[in-house]
Amino acid sequence: MSTLITNIAELTTNVSTGGDRTGTVLDAAVLIEGERIAWVGAAADAPEAAEVVDAGGRAVIPGFVDSHSHLVFAGDRAAEFEARMAGQKYAAGGIRSTVAATRAATDDELRARLRGFLDEMLAQGTTTVEIKSGYGLSVADEERLVRLAAEVTPEVTFLGAHVVPAEYADRPDEYVDLVTGPMLDACAPHAKWVDVFCETGAFTVAQSRRVLEAGVTRGLVPRVHASQLGPGEGVRLAVELGAASIDHGTYLTDADVDALAGSDTVLTLLPGVEFSTRQPYPDARRLIDAGVTVALACDTNPGSSFTSSMPFCIAVAVRDMGMTPAEAVWAATAGGAKALRRDDVGTIVPGARADLVLLDAPTRIHLAYRPGVPLVRAVWKDGRAIG
Ligand code: NIG
Ligand code: FE
Repeated sequence: MSTLITNIAELTTNVSTGGDRTGTVLDAAVLIEGERIAWVGAAADAPEAAEVVDAGGRAVIPGFVDSHSHLVFAGDRAAEFEARMAGQKYAAGGIRSTVAATRAATDDELRARLRGFLDEMLAQGTTTVEIKSGYGLSVADEERLVRLAAEVTPEVTFLGAHVVPAEYADRPDEYVDLVTGPMLDACAPHAKWVDVFCETGAFTVAQSRRVLEAGVTRGLVPRVHASQLGPGEGVRLAVELGAASIDHGTYLTDADVDALAGSDTVLTLLPGVEFSTRQPYPDARRLIDAGVTVALACDTNPGSSFTSSMPFCIAVAVRDMGMTPAEAVWAATAGGAKALRRDDVGTIVPGARADLVLLDAPTRIHLAYRPGVPLVRAVWKDGRAIG
């Protein structure tokens, strides 16, 4: 089955041309064959296809690649959010209340919630999602969270070191022994990535190193939560260990920025977190100008960021973090793909997965220019039109 999407006013391919990383083609067309992109070019030169979709002079971008989420959990923390908006500070300890609710939920309850989030994301243009464990914090519960995540995505991250659970509160190093031993043995077969929350109130740099190195010995690749609540050594540890991404980076020192700029580690910014915790927005302009590769993701979770909207994150990144609309859209698509070390998503190029979003707007700028407006008109994932 072949589908030609034609009459595209502005196509963002993310295939770099002459210094333009967005690889923008005006008056364009895209041919989909099966699950893949088969041809990209000027609408005037488009080949024949069994089915033709008239984009009506609108913009097409790659499907969003959301490289950071925590979607397997039960309950919510609306009261905690309300208290924060009244002045209370965000702290890592809130994670424990979601752990209690998640442990009490059945697999089917978690599955139903997870699928609901994925549908919600797809409707907003997200076609690739990374999912972390981290609300189980026992061998059996972490194993079931990574197993449930693996049912819906290949991008599964083991985050047994999210926070020290209440039953280990006075013996955190014993909890790290559990994470780096039996928990990792049970979870690694379902996961691709290993993560740790390297932060005051969660895990120290030494503990984080143990967790990440243990993951590496089981074939997992590190990605790290760091510098969310204050500056720390997590970013440099992540770079040293060849992490695919460091995530948050709200409080980066000049040494962190230098280390990132000279590395292959992506910095994943999570604007929903600063929005929902009333923390200062990181300066994406400083990072991009220093040569750091920046991705944008939602960090969907019940505590620090309960949005699943990449368009919302783009709007905030443009309004409050100094990114241009083109940079923000690149970060939410190709940037996310780099953070997941994927070369088959995040770009619209022959051979890539046919994951595309048709916007109800003539340019991608509208994603930031019309915040809060549902601009996703159609989505294709693996060549199939959704909805
Ligand atoms: O990415 N920072 C750590 N983990 C999540 C928050 C989890 C929670 O508060 O439940 C995050 O922000
Ligand atoms: Fe997170």
